[in-house]
Amino acid sequence: MRKKLYIQTYGCQMNEHDSERMAGLLAPDGYTVTDRMDEADLILMNTCSIRDKAEQKAFSELGRIRELHRRRPELIVGVAGCMARQEGAALLERHPWIRLVFGSKQIDQLPSLLRESTGSGRAVIAVDDPGGTAPSLPSHRKPGVRAWVSIMEGCENRCSFCVVPHSRGRERSRLSGEIVEEVRGLARQGFREVTLLGQNVNSYGRTSSEGVDFAELLRRLDGIEGLDRVRFTTSHPSAVTDRMIRAMAELPAVCEHLHLPLQSGSDRILERMNREYTTEDYRRRIEALRTAVPGLTLTTDIIVGFPGETEEDFGLTLKAVAEFGFTGLFAFKYSKRPHTPALALDGHLDEAVKSARLHRLLALQQELVAARQRSLVGSNQEVLFEGASQSYPGRLFGRTRANDQLHVEASLAMVGRLAHVIVTQRRAHRLEGALSAV
Ligand code: SAH
Ligand code: SF4
Ligand code: F3S
Repeated sequence: MRKKLYIQTYGCQMNEHDSERMAGLLAPDGYTVTDRMDEADLILMNTCSIRDKAEQKAFSELGRIRELHRRRPELIVGVAGCMARQEGAALLERHPWIRLVFGSKQIDQLPSLLRESTGSGRAVIAVDDPGGTAPSLPSHRKPGVRAWVSIMEGCENRCSFCVVPHSRGRERSRLSGEIVEEVRGLARQGFREVTLLGQNVNSYGRTSSEGVDFAELLRRLDGIEGLDRVRFTTSHPSAVTDRMIRAMAELPAVCEHLHLPLQSGSDRILERMNREYTTEDYRRRIEALRTAVPGLTLTTDIIVGFPGETEEDFGLTLKAVAEFGFTGLFAFKYSKRPHTPALALDGHLDEAVKSARLHRLLALQQELVAARQRSLVGSNQEVLFEGASQSYPGRLFGRTRANDQLHVEASLAMVGRLAHVIVTQRRAHRLEGALSAV
């Protein structure tokens, strides 16, 4: 019998991709994906708990789903992902109508958990933290130009603010051969770009016995027929090795962009965050990267208002952001998370102080983005077209290798193709371009 599955996804790209994998795993059981919650037989919420706001959003959505469940008690509802593992049984106590609670490491068990629950008529909870090798799972992807590929899961680091080591558990990597096979298959299906995913993507292989590190994995992926570009996210500064830099420099498919979260420009705060690098370490790494990889763009994440952050510490962050030449950044107000060491630190700041700092950082961020965009006007870029532009009807949306976004006058037949584009102008915070002969 055909059944309808609705998945509501919160959080990072890993979660987005996990949702594709849940849909892929349930397809053989007759589930097809719907984008209408009200016609679903099964609703899965794939949750995030990185900041309080993410969690609040999921809880209010749960309220809405509960109403739906009241009207249709046969509806099966499951909660997956980071909040599921964090809350575990407490979630079922508060919401006894939920049938499934499972963590990101139990996605492979989803079909059997579902059968167990429907068979027994009871709720099933599965949130443990197996080690070993990460499994290879089928994915339900929309046809397109870019695809996500998970290469590792979990995190062995212990940044004091971060819930991920708890919510996603210990690090484990997939076997390199299985990753290469998956990417080959994607290229055969017409995908032209892959983004390798992991909470600590560049520590790939650290906990496995296979002896293949991130640099070696990139080498094995480069040159796959039909695959134009390889990207990856998120990298940790301490795991940027010389081997990784060499691989980025030498491999034609690997794009000249790196998302490398700095978090703070103050060494005192980095230490309290337990990030395991100083601003000087970070500076040295990016200098080595820029020397080896001409045209490299760097983007970053910054947390403002970490416990104990003084005006002076924050000033150092602004200074570092300006100095390091980021072309984009994500800024977050520090948010208290359960099970994290930072809760016990002194100097927790008022919301107003955090908000004011966030605004100042965002103003700087806008300047950075504008400066980057202005510097591109007049240049010739290789662009991979992804589809119709959402902002400009009649134009295509594409990205440069350095991850700059362009809106270009070109026909839909160009989607999925590489082309040279002259960046013509910057308008309304966006870059426009025109196809060029070379
Ligand atoms: N693994 C990645 C980051 C994953 S979380 C890394 O190590 O860089 C994505 C971003 O969320 C982090 O880079 C951080 O800037 C932010 N973040 C994590 N925990 C947070 C918290 N408690 N409050 C505010 N922002 C947080
Ligand atoms: Fe969180 Fe730090 Fe691990 Fe990133 S490296 S997921 S910020 S603990
Ligand atoms: Fe959120 Fe979990 Fe990703 S906490 S950011 S969904 S790893």
